[in-house]
Amino acid sequence: MGRDFKMWLWYKSGQFLRDPSNMHFTTYSTHPFKDQRPGTSGLRKRVEVFRQGNYLKNFVQSVFDTQRELVGGTLVLGGDGRFYNREAIQIILRMAAANGVARVLVGQGGLLSTPAASCVIRKYGAAGGLILSASHNPGGPDGDFGIKYNTANGGPAPEKVTEAIYARTLEITNFRSIDEEDVELDDLGSYQLSETQIEVIDPVADYADLMASIFDFDAIRALLAGGFRIRFDAMHAVTGPYATRILEQTLGAPAGTVINGEPLEDFGGHHPDPNLVHAAELVAMTQGPDGVDFAAASDGDGDRNMILGRDFFVTPSDSLAVLAANATLIPAHRGGIPGVARSMPTSQAVDRVAAAMGIECFETPTGWKFFGNLLDAGRIAFCGEESFGTGSNHVREKDGLWAVLAWLNVLAARGQSVADIVTGHWQQYGRNYYSRHDYEGIKGKAADQLMKDLRARLPQLPGTFLDGLEVGYADDFSYTDPIDGSVSQRQGVRIGFSNGSRIVFRLSGTGTVDATLRVYLESFEPNVASQGLDPQVALAALISTANELAQIQLLTGRAAPDVIT
Ligand code: G1P
Ligand code: ZN
Repeated sequence: MGRDFKMWLWYKSGQFLRDPSNMHFTTYSTHPFKDQRPGTSGLRKRVEVFRQGNYLKNFVQSVFDTQRELVGGTLVLGGDGRFYNREAIQIILRMAAANGVARVLVGQGGLLSTPAASCVIRKYGAAGGLILSASHNPGGPDGDFGIKYNTANGGPAPEKVTEAIYARTLEITNFRSIDEEDVELDDLGSYQLSETQIEVIDPVADYADLMASIFDFDAIRALLAGGFRIRFDAMHAVTGPYATRILEQTLGAPAGTVINGEPLEDFGGHHPDPNLVHAAELVAMTQGPDGVDFAAASDGDGDRNMILGRDFFVTPSDSLAVLAANATLIPAHRGGIPGVARSMPTSQAVDRVAAAMGIECFETPTGWKFFGNLLDAGRIAFCGEESFGTGSNHVREKDGLWAVLAWLNVLAARGQSVADIVTGHWQQYGRNYYSRHDYEGIKGKAADQLMKDLRARLPQLPGTFLDGLEVGYADDFSYTDPIDGSVSQRQGVRIGFSNGSRIVFRLSGTGTVDATLRVYLESFEPNVASQGLDPQVALAALISTANELAQIQLLTGRAAPDVIT
């Protein structure tokens, strides 16, 4: 390529901020892929899709082409360690150098949990971050891979950014890279890649410091020293090193507290998804006379959490409500929290806490990116989703270990068992029975038809009775962001009954094959004597109403859901 052409390219791309004479990059031509629109949480596809041709490179170049603050700025880079993570990191490092990124902070071994990446972006004032993960989806050559861009606030890029990246992927004609050896990812240190400084950082240190600044570590240490028994299941995913350092090495939990702690490229062949189905080994450790007092698990990239007590499962919706009600026991929130937020399908348990505390409560669409503006504006401090996501204003991602430490902090301060804290909470605020039914791998056409039929019926539903329950409202959730006024439509069909029960239907935006229908069910029980039922029993009537209303069996051929949480 001629120097003049290179100069022209350099000028056109706005790289005149950097000295072009030192930049030795090559421009390669490419052709757009039509399917690179990010979903609920970044671009997720089968590994084989990411490995074809220039698939990854196209997406990464589209990020560099549209997110110009990266030129001359700092990029944070890391992933959950799944298959293809290391290869992808080397590709991105070379492209970052070719695109004029001044500095890249990359986690040792290519690892950074999603919340740790958010922490590092914020702490070092990075322009943004690329996180390589398909979260709780299985890994390995036949599994999934994913990539997402986080902005300078440390949070997932908002829709206007992901749409700009997507628009660029549709018209991309070339990408840039340099011809250099792989960077040594396993040794901490600073390396020069062309004009770009690559710093291989300890993936745990900054995050562990942040946790120590939030929680009462002395109280947790004393709790554990007093014989309170805990287990943490890292599911052979990224949180192993984080949990070992914090729970065992810093807080003094005995060795062996962290199980499945070694990150593996295929997560040991399992689904790194912390729920009752996929973390069955951990659940068993909480049962019976030898059951531990507290157990928790996290997912592939460390942002999800599951909380268990002895013989007791805490639903993520209840977990958010309990933590909000006990926020002032956590040193960082001693002065109280300004407000809370939950995703629309999450149970309304936290709404009751907010009402009692006289603080704001927001209902947002599914996906953590919708909490970012509220957190940045200081309107909320805690937020969560029914899908095992809980977090606070300390980073801009949900954070599995944060939730675990928050629970340990509350347990240490209250000196009660998990079960006593949650049942006491129900007695005070009422119980929101809650369950989610997932129908996985259904045909896209059938799923679309089901949602279309439901939407068509919405205007006629209010005021009618379904199985004896009066419909109070029926709509397709639309959200106007209170901070920037942006509107997100068609975020899920909700049907609310006059007794406070709800049914929500939406299609997953994170799957990679076929469609997944999610049905969310919720009822409210203020009567203490009736709060001890199995949720599937308490919700039985609502479950059958949902099935009939959406004609699930007729349209999908499925008589029962694949996963119930
Ligand atoms: C799912 C969850 C959602 C979460 C997302 C990323 O998205 O339902 O709450 O934010 O994973 O972890 P979905 O597949 O439903 O679009
Ligand atoms: Zn995740």
